[in-house]
Amino acid sequence: SDVIHAPHQSWDFKGFMSSYDAASVRRGHQVYTQVCASCHGLARIAYRNLVDVCYSEEEVKAMAEDTEVMDGPNDEGEMFERPGKLSDYLPSPYPNEEAARYANNGAYPPDLSLIMKARHNGPDYVFALLTGYKDPPAGVAERETQYYNPYFPGAWIGMPMPLNEGAVEYDDGTPATATQMAKDVCTFLTWAAEPEADERKLMGVKWMLTLTVLFGFTWYYKRVRWAPIK
Ligand code: HEM
Repeated sequence: SDVIHAPHQSWDFKGFMSSYDAASVRRGHQVYTQVCASCHGLARIAYRNLVDVCYSEEEVKAMAEDTEVMDGPNDEGEMFERPGKLSDYLPSPYPNEEAARYANNGAYPPDLSLIMKARHNGPDYVFALLTGYKDPPAGVAERETQYYNPYFPGAWIGMPMPLNEGAVEYDDGTPATATQMAKDVCTFLTWAAEPEADERKLMGVKWMLTLTVLFGFTWYYKRVRWAPIK
């Protein structure tokens, strides 16, 4: 087949002792919001999930208030718009799949909440996909509404190359190269698919420590108790 296996990257969140790089998660959120969010939803993430992970509560509140959320019905039975709150989920760009396909020449931009779990080696694959747009091989004709990308199954994808140098303005001043943005948005989406990973790893370390200490006591106790018998 035409498909190339995505190369492995040295993600710093891999490994049972490592945590997400909060600055990268924050930059990745900026990439998602400024670029991906016009076509892809992230419906499983609420504003509150971002608090203390990569933003302060004040920052997230301001962000939420910038969006209009449909609410209701009120006492008169009417729906109404109000500013977003911390408890709201991130808005999706289209009301349903049909509208999404209609806007994208028939292709469906999936919700990205779980994409890192849904694809084999998610972070490596999505990084390769985002940075892997190429001219079609010699003799292969360009297509009208599909783009050549050898990392996508079938090699023709309905998503135009989303990350061009300088596509976002990072608030920490990091130069927004295509690979930097791809790395950051992959880190952000990995966090989004498993926000509890840091907590889970910390618990793992705590349990290992606890069990080690308990084993130490048990071993010592056994030696002491059994010493006269042996
Ligand atoms: C598909 C990520 C921006 C339109 C996808 C897929 C991923 C992805 C992971 C799924 C590929 C697969 O099924 O294996 C991203 C990221 C973006 C971004 C991280 C921001 C950096 C955009 C934008 C648009 C778009 C701005 C619209 C202009 C689409 C469409 C598909 C798609 C139409 C379906 C392609 C097909 O099935 O042929 N994207 N995307 N994406 N994306 Fe994006």
